[in-house]
Amino acid sequence: MVQFEFLGPRSIKLGQAVTVGLFALLSIFLYSRAGILYIFYANAPTRLIKVNNLPHLDIKFQNVVRNCEHMVLEPSAAFALLSCDPGRDTWNTVMGTFIDANSPPETGVYIWKYADADATSHPQKLKLLDYPASPSDFHPLGIHLHSASNTLYIVNHAASGSRVEVFRLFPAEQAATHIKTIKHDLLAAPNSITALSESELLVTCDHYFLRKNQPILAQVETYTGIPGGSVVHVDLGADEAKINLVTRVPFANGIAQLNTTTFAVASTSTNAVYLYLLSRHDGPPRLTRTATIPLSFHPDNLSVDGAGNLLIAGHPHGPTFEEVMKDAAARAGDGDKTDEKSWKGSSWVSKWNPSDGLKTLYVGDEYGTSCTAVRDSGRKLGMAVGLYERGVLTWTE
Ligand SMILES: *[C@@H]1O[C@H](CO)[C@@H](O)[C@H](O)[C@H]1NC(C)=O
Ligand SMILES: *[C@@H]1O[C@H](CO)[C@@H](O)[C@H](O)[C@H]1NC(C)=O
Repeated sequence: MVQFEFLGPRSIKLGQAVTVGLFALLSIFLYSRAGILYIFYANAPTRLIKVNNLPHLDIKFQNVVRNCEHMVLEPSAAFALLSCDPGRDTWNTVMGTFIDANSPPETGVYIWKYADADATSHPQKLKLLDYPASPSDFHPLGIHLHSASNTLYIVNHAASGSRVEVFRLFPAEQAATHIKTIKHDLLAAPNSITALSESELLVTCDHYFLRKNQPILAQVETYTGIPGGSVVHVDLGADEAKINLVTRVPFANGIAQLNTTTFAVASTSTNAVYLYLLSRHDGPPRLTRTATIPLSFHPDNLSVDGAGNLLIAGHPHGPTFEEVMKDAAARAGDGDKTDEKSWKGSSWVSKWNPSDGLKTLYVGDEYGTSCTAVRDSGRKLGMAVGLYERGVLTWTE
């Protein structure tokens, strides 16, 4: 009895403390996720407000490339590289489609010499030389070109395990020679790459839990915005690559270098782009978050044009994006080769720079599931690719 009297009020207090604690956690959670709930409502296909500030919009090469996830631009030589994987309909490690791991022959990295007046100048698939694995297990995602050395880094979501492939690019020959493969536990979910030098990379990893192994936890990670993603530093300077975790970011996606010290990382699940200051000490560099650019869509890949604008491509509505993906997987699974989608994805492209802030360039569904936008500021030509689309969206200013 004495014990009971003693425990009574105490356990009530404990109970209260737990309730207050849970309530506090819940409110923090709801507060931090209010943005995503608003997006789920406001950007639903029937409510989404369309915007088009991109002059002379066109969709090119619909019969040449499709399912392009990423592109990089080399304005000085007027070519673009596109990473395209029609196999994504049946194999998407990020979103969790695991029907058929073999990529079709059209999967690859394409080079488009976009300033050639030649009518035949459409994207050509790069020949991959000395590639040690089976071409059908090549699933290119994020790519990055270190122009000074023509080193091409390709994130490869191979069925036999995700990895980063390093190639030397020969643009005139439309070929790339394989140099090495980087595989590491910290790079289990590699997504996007930027190079600090010929031998140093920052790689984003989108998730801690992989859709392949822990589908439910991976979804929980996406929808709660838990910082399970990361930025990883890879140093290829020595014989043995040195690989270190630099920082954690919820659903880290695109990464781009704004200037000598500032890097931008897209956090898809928290609808924001974070800016980081890179500082050097002994060992791997440090990234310190300096600013947040809040968005009303889920940002995917980032790029920086010659005029210093950060281009942010992404998805207005997560649930619709999931439906487009499931629809593509279902049709591919049924062997349906028609292009009659039951779900139309939508796209969002914005631009940010420190003086003008954020500006919406495009919101619409003529071209869906935009995931990367790039711009040649000298030629005033912009391009975007969509994960589940055919062709390339272009505009001229
Ligand atoms: C672009 O976005 C897609 C989709 O999330 C991702 O898988 C890909 O790796 C990204 N590429 C880069 C370079 O960010
Ligand atoms: C780099 O860009 C950031 C963000 O716009 C800015 O705050 C910073 O001053 C710039 N740094 C340099 C060295 O230009």
